[in-house]
Amino acid sequence: MKTSLSEAIVERVNCGVFTVDRELRILTWNRFMQSHSGRSAESVVGQNLLDVFPELPRQWLSRKIEGVFVLGTPAYSSWEHRPYLFRFEHSRPITGTIDAMRQNCNFIPIENSRGEVVAVGVAIVDTTDVCIAYGELQDREKAVTNALAELTVRNQQLTSLNDALAHAHQQLLQSEKLAAIGQLAAGVAHEINNPVGFVLSNLNTLDGYVKTLIRYAADVQRMVSEAAPALKHDIEALAEQADLDYLLGDAPTLVHESKEGLARVRTIVVDLRDFSRVDSTQVWELADIHRCIESTLNIVHNEVKYCAHLVREYAEIPFVRCIPSQISQVVLNLVVNAAQAYGGNHEQHGAPRGTITVRTGMDAADPSRVWFEVADMGCGIPPELLKRIFDPFFTTKPVGQGTGLGLSVTYGIVNAHRGTISVASTIGEGTTFRVTLPVDGAQPEDSNTEALAQSGSLDAIALPAQSPAAT
Ligand SMILES: Nc1ncnc2c1ncn2[C@@H]1O[C@H](COP(=O)(O)OP(=O)(O)OP(=O)(O)O)[C@@H](O)[C@H]1O
Ligand SMILES: [Mg+2]
Repeated sequence: MKTSLSEAIVERVNCGVFTVDRELRILTWNRFMQSHSGRSAESVVGQNLLDVFPELPRQWLSRKIEGVFVLGTPAYSSWEHRPYLFRFEHSRPITGTIDAMRQNCNFIPIENSRGEVVAVGVAIVDTTDVCIAYGELQDREKAVTNALAELTVRNQQLTSLNDALAHAHQQLLQSEKLAAIGQLAAGVAHEINNPVGFVLSNLNTLDGYVKTLIRYAADVQRMVSEAAPALKHDIEALAEQADLDYLLGDAPTLVHESKEGLARVRTIVVDLRDFSRVDSTQVWELADIHRCIESTLNIVHNEVKYCAHLVREYAEIPFVRCIPSQISQVVLNLVVNAAQAYGGNHEQHGAPRGTITVRTGMDAADPSRVWFEVADMGCGIPPELLKRIFDPFFTTKPVGQGTGLGLSVTYGIVNAHRGTISVASTIGEGTTFRVTLPVDGAQPEDSNTEALAQSGSLDAIALPAQSPAAT
């Protein structure tokens, strides 16, 4: 009864069960095996397993079963390592890459009463469902990983888009500000330029008159004292009353100082005009940036020599289409600022306090652009002021020393050249300004190009870096 119950279970259980002897002859063959292999128990029992199923992995299977006979311990094979032993259909339609029933196989030693292994029972368990679920799980995991990767990329895109937007916003603000101030400056420059011109011309004439009058007064005094000595005292008294000596001494000084003052006004007017770029007489040409720099360094040599050594680090760069005088002006403004960053009175002789390095090079990312840099090791610019240094009239220098137009003029010029200017600065360590210019600057319609740059088109606008980290 007990035996027949076990047999009944083995017969009906939903997995394949069969036994073989040491020669691989089939001893029993349950219903599952019959229905899935299509071979009845009667037709296979007593036959060699490998003869009946020549497609079975002969060597592997023989070794596996022999191993169980020899060692007397169970063996196992999982679907993950060997998907199936018998190529069976699955009870429900199998989709995807799974083309046959997946199987776990158990090899169980069957002993007689003396403990000798007389047969090996093989149990074949259908694991297709597990395998499908596992595959789906992996697919989902892959999908989640892909989605995460895509999200990360999107996030990066969004972040850089956001940065670009902030950048563009800053550009717009800066260009609007400059456009408004540029118009104002252009008007003011024009209004001031004419009177300054004629006052300067009048002063030159007056200078001549004063000199003539001084000569005349001296001659009259001499002639009177020779021809009418009696009048000498009266004339001297008159001269004293009028403080003539002082007047004659002071008049040329006054004229001279006035001329100097007006020259300064004229410089500011020229700066204002450059800033607003109303002057279209300057011509675009292919120029050697190193020559522009050198001619400027010659001019500022005197100003710079007591506070810093000039160091040149020039790379080989092509000629650049630009307005050379304006590029010189840019170099001038940057170098003078760099010199002033060393502070103190440079007229006082003494050992220079630092270096000003002028570098040039090609843009690594874009060979159609060249750059030049002016780097100092001076006082540096506080981060909160970095945003303002390009604003017209922003200066931290004492009254009379800075107009605060240098960098805004520079910005305007670089802008008109479709270039960019950036700044990196650390307090107490120094500042580096870098100007990048396109090699092929403005094109045949050069005058229009300038107008275009002024119009505020985003492409044409350069942005000053807003923080030291920006470069
Ligand atoms: N190399 C530098 N090191 C430190 N500060 C600088 C440097 N360059 C510019 N600055 C700061 O930027 C401000 C604006 O510079 P900008 O050249 O526009 O005007 P300025 O030098 O003050 O006057 P101007 O050039 O009209 O004589 C300066 O006052 C200074 O505070
Ligand atoms: Mg300056």
